[in-house]
Amino acid sequence: MLSENERGRIISKNKEKIELFFQFAFEVGSKRNIDDVLKVIADSARKILDCDRVSIFVYNKETSKLWTKVAHGLEEKIEVDQNIGIVGWVFSNRKPLIVNSPYSDPRFNPETDRKTGYRTKSIIAVPLVTYSGSTVGVLEGINKNVGGFVDEDLEFGQILAVQAANAIENAILYEELKRAQEEIVMRLSIAAEFRDSTTYNHLVRMSLYSYLIAKEMGFDDSWCEKLKLAAPMHDIGKLGIKDMILLKPAKLTDEEFEEMKKHTIYGYDILKDSSIDILKMASNVALCHHEKYDGTGYPRGLRGDEIPIEARIVAVADVFDALTSKRPYKEPYEIEHAVEIIEKGSGKHFDPKVVQAFKKALPEIIKILKKYGVE
Ligand code: C2E
Ligand code: SIN
Ligand code: SIN
Ligand code: FE
Repeated sequence: MLSENERGRIISKNKEKIELFFQFAFEVGSKRNIDDVLKVIADSARKILDCDRVSIFVYNKETSKLWTKVAHGLEEKIEVDQNIGIVGWVFSNRKPLIVNSPYSDPRFNPETDRKTGYRTKSIIAVPLVTYSGSTVGVLEGINKNVGGFVDEDLEFGQILAVQAANAIENAILYEELKRAQEEIVMRLSIAAEFRDSTTYNHLVRMSLYSYLIAKEMGFDDSWCEKLKLAAPMHDIGKLGIKDMILLKPAKLTDEEFEEMKKHTIYGYDILKDSSIDILKMASNVALCHHEKYDGTGYPRGLRGDEIPIEARIVAVADVFDALTSKRPYKEPYEIEHAVEIIEKGSGKHFDPKVVQAFKKALPEIIKILKKYGVE
């Protein structure tokens, strides 16, 4: 680790690199998603180290391997053993390393070169150690543009590595939190509907359909992510519906259907008045997912843009999934038939803009349907 003094000396010597460091710090701080974070680190490191390629290897606790995805010149995610190659050595020994003639270094593993047809001439590899001392991976630069790597590159690499390591650690925590949040929402929503034939997969599907439609409509990432979490809570108000109605294996009487309609209001009552954005959105979705574009829906008979957009999107996702699924009161329809029903509903039941986006997203939607199969 460098002392503050050494760090100051190095930095004052290299003005143009300081700019790159500031730019890096600013950019990496604005990213949350792990892929984005890795890309910013790799791009900045390539400039700062003045080399041809940079790969970031991230340690996966579950497999005990190091994986990389955003390696320059590499298309797919690869995994390497934590003890093999230069990268493995640097990871296990927590020491940086320069190797300017890799083919005569016994630690070098030429397998990647063989696979990619690339010729590695020089390597710099730095362990990614966080402020709190955990090693999250290795930053590797390949082929210095002029000559080989020098000690100064090692110093720069290490300054970069600390910040990179913390950004990666945060991104991993963020991904884990997001996954936990998604799973908790799904599990609690399914708990709320456990008497119904509703399944975990129904909620996963309609949540992802909603997300894909919103993306297609051009909503920003964070809004789409919120909708993905809000959508599965749409029928939470079915908690308040009596078994006799909810589980009836036949058509509902008018009176029973009036009771059934109240699941929108019950859901709203459960979710309303929260200061959490996702729950606010979920309360709108619960209340308005059976409203229809032409004003003939329930519970309030809202029309057009009076219906919150999140509910207009979920309406299409929910009905498409209801149509392609088995219900106690109906058999599933073929996909083509279900799509036809959605198209026919454009401008009547559904917002035409949403139907259009649904059709554009259909190839992706069908992939989800197949992956989280209709049971
Ligand atoms: P769900 O089963 O999740 O259905 C959600 C929505 O999908 C329905 O809202 C409806 O708009 C659409 N949908 C479902 N099946 C069909 C279909 O066969 N054809 C067409 N064109 N659309 C369909 P809706 O009608 O407001 O119903 C809300 C909820 O009320 C349903 O949720 C279900 O739990 C219950 N429900 C509706 N009709 C019946 C019924 O005849 N028998 C029973 N037992 N429950 C019913
Ligand atoms: C990965 O990059 O392999 C997984 C992280 C993500 O879910 O974006
Ligand atoms: C290694 O770590 O030895 C392989 C270097 C590479 O990525 O080509
Ligand atoms: Fe509903």
